Amino acid sequence: MASDSANRPRMERGLHDRDRAGVQDFVLLENIQSEEAFIGNLRKRFQENLIYTYIGQVLISVNPYKQLPIYSENDIKEYRNKHFYEMPPHIFAVTDNAFRSLIEENKGQCVLISGESGSGKTEASKKVLQYIAACSGHQSTVESVKEKLLKSNPVLEAFGNAKTNRNVNSSRFGKYMDIQFDYSGTPIGGHILNYLLEKSRVVNQNAGERNFHIFYQLLAGASEEELKRLQLKRSLDSYSYLSDGQNGVVKYIDDVADFNTVKQAMSVIDFTDSEQKDIFSIIASVLHLGNVTFNEAEGVAKVSKPDAVAAVAQLLGVSQNALTDALTNRTIDAQGDVVTSPLNRELSVYARDALAKAIYDRLFTWLVQRLNRSLQAKDLRDALNNVMGILDIYGFEIFKKNSFEQFCINFCNEKLQQLFIELTLKSEQDEYQREGIEWVPVEYFDNKVICNLIEEKYKGIISILDEECLRPGEPTDITFLAKLTDKLAAHPHYICHEKSSTLVQKTMGRDEFRLVHYAGDVTYNVNGFLDKNNDLLFRDLKETMSRAGNDIIRSCFPEGEYKNKKRPDTAITQFRNSLNNLMDILMCKEPSYIRCIKPNDQQQAGIFDDELVLHQVKYLGLMENLRVRRAGFAYRRTYETFLNRYKSLSKATWPNYKGSPKEGVRELVADLQYGPDDYRLGATKVFIRFPKTLFDTEDAFQVKKHDIAAIIQSRWKGRQQRRKYLKLRDQIITLQSYCRRYLAIQALRRRREAATKIRAFIKGFITRNDAPNGYNDEFIVNMKRMWLIRLSKQLPTEVLDKSWPSSPVHCQEASTYLHRLHRLHLARKYRLSLSDERKRQFELKVLAEKLFKDKKANYLASVPYWFQNDRIPKEHAAEINNFVGTSLNGETLKYASPCTKFDRHGYKPRERFVVLSNKALYVLDGKSYKQKHRLPLEKIDFVTTNHSDSLLVIRIPLELKKDKGDLILEIPYIVELGTLVVDTVGTANILSIVSRDTLEHNVVKGKAGVIDIQTGGEPGIVRDKGGHLVVIAGQ
Ligand SMILES: Nc1ncnc2c1ncn2[C@@H]1O[C@H](COP(=O)(O)OP(=O)(O)OP(=O)(O)O)[C@@H](O)[C@H]1O
Ligand SMILES: [Mg+2]
Repeated sequence: MASDSANRPRMERGLHDRDRAGVQDFVLLENIQSEEAFIGNLRKRFQENLIYTYIGQVLISVNPYKQLPIYSENDIKEYRNKHFYEMPPHIFAVTDNAFRSLIEENKGQCVLISGESGSGKTEASKKVLQYIAACSGHQSTVESVKEKLLKSNPVLEAFGNAKTNRNVNSSRFGKYMDIQFDYSGTPIGGHILNYLLEKSRVVNQNAGERNFHIFYQLLAGASEEELKRLQLKRSLDSYSYLSDGQNGVVKYIDDVADFNTVKQAMSVIDFTDSEQKDIFSIIASVLHLGNVTFNEAEGVAKVSKPDAVAAVAQLLGVSQNALTDALTNRTIDAQGDVVTSPLNRELSVYARDALAKAIYDRLFTWLVQRLNRSLQAKDLRDALNNVMGILDIYGFEIFKKNSFEQFCINFCNEKLQQLFIELTLKSEQDEYQREGIEWVPVEYFDNKVICNLIEEKYKGIISILDEECLRPGEPTDITFLAKLTDKLAAHPHYICHEKSSTLVQKTMGRDEFRLVHYAGDVTYNVNGFLDKNNDLLFRDLKETMSRAGNDIIRSCFPEGEYKNKKRPDTAITQFRNSLNNLMDILMCKEPSYIRCIKPNDQQQAGIFDDELVLHQVKYLGLMENLRVRRAGFAYRRTYETFLNRYKSLSKATWPNYKGSPKEGVRELVADLQYGPDDYRLGATKVFIRFPKTLFDTEDAFQVKKHDIAAIIQSRWKGRQQRRKYLKLRDQIITLQSYCRRYLAIQALRRRREAATKIRAFIKGFITRNDAPNGYNDEFIVNMKRMWLIRLSKQLPTEVLDKSWPSSPVHCQEASTYLHRLHRLHLARKYRLSLSDERKRQFELKVLAEKLFKDKKANYLASVPYWFQNDRIPKEHAAEINNFVGTSLNGETLKYASPCTKFDRHGYKPRERFVVLSNKALYVLDGKSYKQKHRLPLEKIDFVTTNHSDSLLVIRIPLELKKDKGDLILEIPYIVELGTLVVDTVGTANILSIVSRDTLEHNVVKGKAGVIDIQTGGEPGIVRDKGGHLVVIAGQ
């Protein structure tokens, strides 16, 4: 479906489709004189389901009698804000065009929908409303207005439409609806005018037709309860006003559903419950009234079915007696003489029907007024002055038998045709003339002459009819006809039986006259003209109704009416007045025409009856319309309007043109390169021949509009931004100055603090060696810290290094402590790092110091070398080791050394070795390594001198028989040996150091020798010439 609608424009635009789908605008028709071509184009399009075609701005709509998928939301969107000729013809395009003119140019609009019964006028008016509702705003307040506008239709249709032989939903009244908008195009209210309801239908219907829908809807759709209240039965044949039930049920009409729709619509339009109750009571009362019958005795009528009267009385809230009397009597007030006379049966029936019609007619008018109250705009502040009107009024009617109603309807159509001529054909041509544009006048028939025939004062048919109705005497329909003939026989549009040729006489009765309407000849039967025009309702009935309990009825029959002695206007005069009023309303609006055509009489889809259509084309004046259109210009506007709108398209006229608007337009169109035939310049207006020229201009303007808007926007934005910028700059500068001030204050404070600090520092420095005085405290602390850091980097690392960095005054005490601590630390570290062997060495050295320091002169010479256990030269080591291994008997070797032994006698030196064990001292032969002595340590003593020599005397006690006398030895490392011996025995008593120049020693058996001790010369031990042993000690 969507693709279908999307394809439509393209399909229609393609010229190759022209043969099949016809042209969209009759202006494009090649032969505009040919009716055949005209009908042919309509037919082609109808067969392609293209029911809409233009003649210029006039839309022709052919009733498809089937639903077409061209009225969806999407379709509405497609037509929204499009150029009229941009899209294929559619009722939405016409509506959009009118709607935009209203909103943008503030010009009142009216959409005039005409066509004969069943041609689709009412449907078209609904589409217009649908479009307007769909493309305006969606605020909730608006929704309710739109809802009311839309819902007014089902209510009016229920009460004002009926099934006829030509249309199952034929409007039996004329309707003009104004829609009010606010400046944004949103509907805010509405107003309805109704015209001439066909009220005779209430009491009588043609064969095959029905009464107004509401009667059937009520009987089918109301609840049992409601029916009971209304004293109604659900059967149609119970009511004589419904043709005794004949034609009541129609295939295409669902009365139950429609009734529900009406009830729902009534509540949307804010009908109160009691109003609804009253309305349905009235409808029911009309049905009951139809069932009231009369007997007649001696010319006096009497109600024969009082039940029906009782029901009416009860439903309307009137007294049953009063109603009965009013139906059967007539009161006449003749110049103050009030006379009541009984009615005969015929007149009673007449009175009954008149009452039924009056009640229904007035109810309908009341409904319209009630709707208007509901549709009234609540807030008129934003309202546009202009409105959009939609006129859906009965089309031209030609029946076999035409009566007063057809006369009224056709009169109305004559008036509308006049309007059409005024607004389009005539005004168009007049305008060309006025503007001085060369122009070939088009011949068209002006129906003014027929309008005059009908409505001219004193001479016209209406005047004659009224005159006949009002005159005293016995006027009848026939006397009326005679008068007509008398006065109008000469009129070219009036044909009477009397004065016609026999040929014509055969086609009409003696009680008929014929009018040559613009749309064709119509023969009217005068029967009933007077009655219908008088529209007489007896005073008694009016009076009774004015006292009704039913509020609506009471308001419909005001008391003043029956008391007023002046005759009310006749029906036709009322109608003419309201029509003239309507013409005035329409005259000042911009019209849009929708000409509806019905394609066949069978009300069926797909049938296109050429003859029927041609007839309608003729009486709608479409051919003339086309001819005028083709000769004219598509568009015209005053120079001011045109220049004002399009001046931005030329440099010469933008932004303002200094000269006259006409000159401005001349420059503008020259600039736009209009062709010489594209336009004409009239006295006050510019005329543009082809729509396309205008659209190109409009498109260019639309594009330009954006440019202009952009320039204005950019200027405005620039200004805004600059203002914003300047404000921001001011603010920033203020802020900056505050910041700078703050920062400067900070800097000043810091500098002051720094100066104070530096001053204090200098003072502190100068007095750094003084006692803390408030200035130097920090300095001192700092100094201490710096000293400690410096000290930590300069600490001595060697235990023997006694150096120590200097210290400031305030650290001297600490320095002393630290020095000591550090030395202890180094010593401890040194100690902890010593090996066992080295430790032993030190112990021996300490022992040696104890034994020999300041006691023996060569002690100092022993200090620098480490003590050793083995002083045996290499060449003797094996033998000595051998001895130690074999002969020591498990004792531990302590020391071994070579030595020299001096004999006790003669002091001859001999090579020997000494070996010290933990138990004894062994002396071995220097050559044989044989043990010479074994001297147990507990038995012997060692003696040495205090000099720097290596003499050792070993005193051997006597009991050691084997060893005779003391042993005199020269030992190379005497301090080493002495220390080891004392260490081995554990006491120093074993060693004695003598400080004498001589030393005695035992030889044998108490005999003693002497050893001299001298100093100086080459140290050594020698035998002097006297046989003494001399020890020469070092210095
Ligand atoms: N555009 C349409 N699309 C489909 N069906 C349509 C269209 N227009 C009219 N019809 C059909 O034609 C019928 C008659 O149309 P409508 O009631 O609008 O005629 P009318 O001109 O108002 O007649 P009347 O003068 O009797 O009131 C509608 O009930 C509907 O079935
Ligand atoms: Mg209608």
